[in-house]
Amino acid sequence: MQNTFTPNINDTFIAMFTHDLKTPINSGIYALEMILNDKSNPINSYHREILNDILNSEKYMKNLTENMLCKYKSDNGHLDLNKEKCNFTKLVKNCISDMSYIVNEKKQTLIFNAPEEDIFINADILNIKRVINNLISNASKYSKTSSKILVTLEVNKNNAIFQVQDFGYGIEINNLSKVFDKYVRLANKQKTSGTGLGLYVAKVITDAHKGSIDIKSKKDYGTTVTIKLPLMSKKH
Ligand SMILES: Nc1ncnc2c1ncn2[C@@H]1O[C@H](COP(=O)(O)OP(=O)(O)O)[C@@H](O)[C@H]1O
Ligand SMILES: [Mg+2]
Repeated sequence: MQNTFTPNINDTFIAMFTHDLKTPINSGIYALEMILNDKSNPINSYHREILNDILNSEKYMKNLTENMLCKYKSDNGHLDLNKEKCNFTKLVKNCISDMSYIVNEKKQTLIFNAPEEDIFINADILNIKRVINNLISNASKYSKTSSKILVTLEVNKNNAIFQVQDFGYGIEINNLSKVFDKYVRLANKQKTSGTGLGLYVAKVITDAHKGSIDIKSKKDYGTTVTIKLPLMSKKH
């Protein structure tokens, strides 16, 4: 029997919808960053605060639409990776800076540890960025205010290891195996918004890079998510 997958009308609609939303969201982010960073025309602190809030909402929408689109593409076998030489250390630093608005909002402290020498992988940069952002966002969302988040990068044999550890609400052991399924959201003490696609998308993308993703958690103590990705071979 031929193994074909026919997307249903809702899926197709969501894919078109999220795809079309990407352009205005990106234009909004670009315009806001231009105003906020314009040294020759500085704005007052009241307006800066308002524009920063709008920028953060736009970034949130961007993450949401990208996860939806990624899920749709992978469901339909269209998750084509555009692999290139990637400075993983630099990418993680950029993501930490991108996500600082979420971490700062909750007055959390993010500590980053990496070897002195930059780590290189062969990867689809935009997709790996999505994985990193989803994990940092979870660590922040599912932890209390003023808590600590540890982000670590290291090399083990032929792999780059990226880890995000939080000291937040944690996950019950019986629920751990479910979190990589799509649309899964567990009950949390704190009501947070989300689609249940973050970890699903993270797994799809790491698997596509021939890597792996692993989660360890203890209820009320915290969670550690570890990603393993093959290092770039010395031949490149
Ligand atoms: N760091 C974490 N600490 C505690 N629970 C988590 C963590 N990361 C994920 N989870 C749980 O797994 C579920 C799925 O995560 P995810 O796929 O990122 O979806 P979303 O964040 O949109 O709900 C979350 O709703 C949450 O219940
Ligand atoms: Mg999430």
